[in-house]
Amino acid sequence: MEALSFGILTVSDTCFRKQKADTAGPRLQSEIEKHFPHCKFFKKTVPDEIEEIKAALDSWIKFFECNVVFTVGGTGFSPRDVTPEATKAIIEKEAPGLAYTMVSKSLAVTPMAMLSRAVCGIRGKTLVVNLPGSAKAAVECFGFILDSIPHAVALLT
Ligand code: MTE
Repeated sequence: MEALSFGILTVSDTCFRKQKADTAGPRLQSEIEKHFPHCKFFKKTVPDEIEEIKAALDSWIKFFECNVVFTVGGTGFSPRDVTPEATKAIIEKEAPGLAYTMVSKSLAVTPMAMLSRAVCGIRGKTLVVNLPGSAKAAVECFGFILDSIPHAVALLT
């Protein structure tokens, strides 16, 4: 398989304003690199604004044809959490099995997993996966779907 390209879109008002360092994005990147050496990354931090999230996802999918784009954060219940809504607006098909797997396996780690509204789906050749925002949660959820990624990408390309 050709070297894969991954997008990591951190969605956080406080990281965007540099009031807090982004720990989840870099942790996720190093975790991805362990399993997919030589892959390419596109990275960005946006605030919890639906139009900004959509624009970032849109451009990575259209212009860079990322194989997988992970969003990190903004999946919860707070009024500013709109990552799933932005994702639903740009995908063509949902991939509910991935979201289901992340929640069901995460419940063995914490009951708070049921508070993630993460959406996963497909647009063109790109798989979009919402991950929760803490570094711990993002890496755990990535680990739960990791084994499906090579086959998912192969089916899409
Ligand atoms: N999933 C895993 N695997 N581990 C976690 O620690 N935290 C939960 C949940 N999913 C968690 C998890 C919590 S506390 C919240 S509020 C939701 O993800 C939403 O997180 P977000 O708003 O940062 O996206």
